[in-house]
Amino acid sequence: MKARTLFHVSDLHLGKNLETERRAIAIRDALVAVDADHVVVTGDLTHRGRSRELALFRRIFAPLAERDRLTIVPGNHDRLGDDLREAIQGEARVAITRAPGLHLVRFDSTGPHNRAWLSGHGVMTEEDVASISAAVDLAAAEALVAVLLHHHILPLPADHPAERLASWLGWPYADELERGGDLLGALRGRCDLVLHGHRHASQAGTFFGYDPRPVLVFNAGSSTDLGRVRVFAHTRGRVIGAPAWLAAWPEERRSPVRPGVASRPAMDLTPTT
Ligand SMILES: [Fe+2]
Ligand SMILES: [Fe+2]
Repeated sequence: MKARTLFHVSDLHLGKNLETERRAIAIRDALVAVDADHVVVTGDLTHRGRSRELALFRRIFAPLAERDRLTIVPGNHDRLGDDLREAIQGEARVAITRAPGLHLVRFDSTGPHNRAWLSGHGVMTEEDVASISAAVDLAAAEALVAVLLHHHILPLPADHPAERLASWLGWPYADELERGGDLLGALRGRCDLVLHGHRHASQAGTFFGYDPRPVLVFNAGSSTDLGRVRVFAHTRGRVIGAPAWLAAWPEERRSPVRPGVASRPAMDLTPTT
């Protein structure tokens, strides 16, 4: 069976400025050029949570959405302004999207506190962990299982001084999700990928690495900052080899990729056109 591709985009922050829009279009063009089988976007689609910013996202990524190749979850920035939570996620905090070869569990890790600019941290309750676990259980035997959420489940370095200051003051804004470790434990042996964003530097980690089915956790970083998108090749419910990077614009205009915990070597997957 031919391997399929799954691309991980995050933190586009559309509406921030014109350059962000140009970069999102370049990312879309690169994804279309390689005929991406499926693309996930893990939150902060918009910068100010405005309906017009979401409309812009939908316009740009229409070529993928129209072919059912796009799956999205909300981030804290999407809760600002017009509060786009429901427009992005629907009613439930946990939902399942099935695509060829994929079982995607979408978790909304945002909360009402995200309506305020400074309260960017996520929320994950014991019930959320149980709901995610139950949704994972419904996967077909030969589907790749991925949990999609915006916030980080493990501690990660702060992106900028304000986050370091918040942590120093004991505020929760830069913290990882409470119960992130519980979620990892619940997913052990039953889930292949945890894909998130929020932190704008890219990170990667492998957990339960000696298991036949380890759990791989990836932070996409901000795709419009980085200029590249991680791609996983998969077949029969398993990731094949190391993920590669799809470059959306030339190397000299891209932000450096911060090496992650147990990250694998990065490669460029050059668009075919
Ligand atoms: Fe973000
Ligand atoms: Fe965020």
